[in-house]
Amino acid sequence: MRSLTSKELRQLYLDFFRSKGHTVISSASLIPENDPTVLFTTAGMHPLVPYLMGEKHPMGTRLCDVQKCVRTGDIDEVGDTSHCTFFEMLGNWSLGDYFKKESIAYSWEFLTDEKWLGIPKEKLFFTCFEGDKDAPRDTVAHDRWVEMGVSPDHIVYLPKKHNWWGPAGQTGPCGPDTEIFYDTGAEPCGPDCKAGCDCHKYLEIWNNVFMEYNKVADGVFEPLKQKNVDTGMGLDRTVATLQGVESVFDTDSFSGIIELISELSHKGYKDDPDTTRAFRIIADHVRCATFILGDQRGVTPSNVDQGYILRRLIRRSLRYASTLNLPRYALCTIAAKVIEIYGEFYPELQDNHEKILTELRKEENRFADTLKKGIREFGKVIQNLDGTQIDGVSAFHLYDTYGFPIELTMELATEKGYTVDVDGFHAAFEEHQKKSQAGAEQRFKGGLADHSEATAALHSATHLMHAALRKVLHDDSVAQKGSNITAERLRFDFSFGRKVTPEELAEVEKLVNEAIDAHVPITCEEMTVKEAKDQGAIGLFESKYGEKVKVYTMGQFSKEICGGPHAKNTGDLGHFHIVKEEASSSGVRRIKAVLTHE
Ligand code: ALA
Repeated sequence: MRSLTSKELRQLYLDFFRSKGHTVISSASLIPENDPTVLFTTAGMHPLVPYLMGEKHPMGTRLCDVQKCVRTGDIDEVGDTSHCTFFEMLGNWSLGDYFKKESIAYSWEFLTDEKWLGIPKEKLFFTCFEGDKDAPRDTVAHDRWVEMGVSPDHIVYLPKKHNWWGPAGQTGPCGPDTEIFYDTGAEPCGPDCKAGCDCHKYLEIWNNVFMEYNKVADGVFEPLKQKNVDTGMGLDRTVATLQGVESVFDTDSFSGIIELISELSHKGYKDDPDTTRAFRIIADHVRCATFILGDQRGVTPSNVDQGYILRRLIRRSLRYASTLNLPRYALCTIAAKVIEIYGEFYPELQDNHEKILTELRKEENRFADTLKKGIREFGKVIQNLDGTQIDGVSAFHLYDTYGFPIELTMELATEKGYTVDVDGFHAAFEEHQKKSQAGAEQRFKGGLADHSEATAALHSATHLMHAALRKVLHDDSVAQKGSNITAERLRFDFSFGRKVTPEELAEVEKLVNEAIDAHVPITCEEMTVKEAKDQGAIGLFESKYGEKVKVYTMGQFSKEICGGPHAKNTGDLGHFHIVKEEASSSGVRRIKAVLTHE
């Protein structure tokens, strides 16, 4: 088995799939576009959803990449050997091209052939979908592994809970999967210990999903237009396996960061379990925060959405930094190390170097302030308490007034032997959101890549509005910072330094409605990013590999790089109306708008 660095594994993976006719595509932003159901890109397939649903991808039907991902669902597990909030997913896709047989043969060759990873065959174990009312038992995958030479006692069938992947949001592409595990050689935890068991004997290193269903509602699965393959291999986990180290934090990606924390704290990483955990949490959270701040669609700390998660990661790191007595602004030093390690593969981190460090510094100062005041307030809450539970309204007050994330209140409470009414906190939060109308978002309604006509029309209206804003505000630096579309409305964040006046908004509305009244066809062409830019197309796209992109044109009104989908003609959009303009974060404005049909 070859021991590879992260850089080598990335390269080898892409080289392998290139040799199998795949085109390498760039990692998409961590902030999903036009997707109301999730805050971050959580898997490699996420940015590809429109293409899994049947949109044509400009780079063909066989793709591979290394995608940046953030998952915060397991944030409390970070500190153990394998959980991270940020991770890189190696993926290969068939968009209606090959299916189970080729997918399994490719994985087998990459994993076991001496030319590639050379993992001994007897170390590999597999799980397949056992079948239920929604889809049959996956004997095709099972038999294919056997054809590859896998002994049947290395393969187990498991239910949906284990061997079904997706959708990434609440609806969308999904299907049965087959998962590949590496046997660490640890003793089985009991007589039933087998691949899929979570005792850490079997490490999951790759997941091949056979996406042939579209989940349209709870329990309702329809066949997709095409059969796709979506695979995901966690880079850090696989490197840890190949390097034979105990945890992802012992791999080459993390070791420089861990050493730095040791220097800054004058403590050893393995001094005691609490110290190890603090080191890991800081290393993981600062890495994640650096990637979020340094993303193409970079976000800054705030009290909502992605900004809130970012704030939580930074503030949690600061709390652990104080337990290690790290010096002031140590997180900036650690972030600089992260940029040094990852900047070559992710140039956006280098481009945003200053911004990343400045925002970390600012957040540290803000947190120091709120922490002082908040801890005083927390003391008062505890003093006035009957019993041992902090009620939801008080926890919300700490959040709303002192910027205490609920997790921080919980941590402080636990330290002092109290509990927190978390449901009560969420109820108070929702109540507040409803009142201030900031929340009540449709985020949990609608579906991921909801391809209804309504969302396509709003998406087209977003392009027209983007172009109109640049015209009316006479500002080419007006750039998209976020777009979130449900079937009911569009929401568009853009960089601009002041409030947009009512007159300007009226002018934007007028221009968009003129474009609609002109009934121009909406056309799509494929070209390189350079050609698109030369033609004056706007839109954010980084193409590290010179790949082609889709450019949508609406007559003279708009030309933008975009994956689609869109309406066919501007005349189909209805009447455009801006509902609200407000600040979203510093230097970023937010507009909500609707299309009405009389
Ligand atoms: N989408 C699959 C995963 O994230 C490959 O595991």
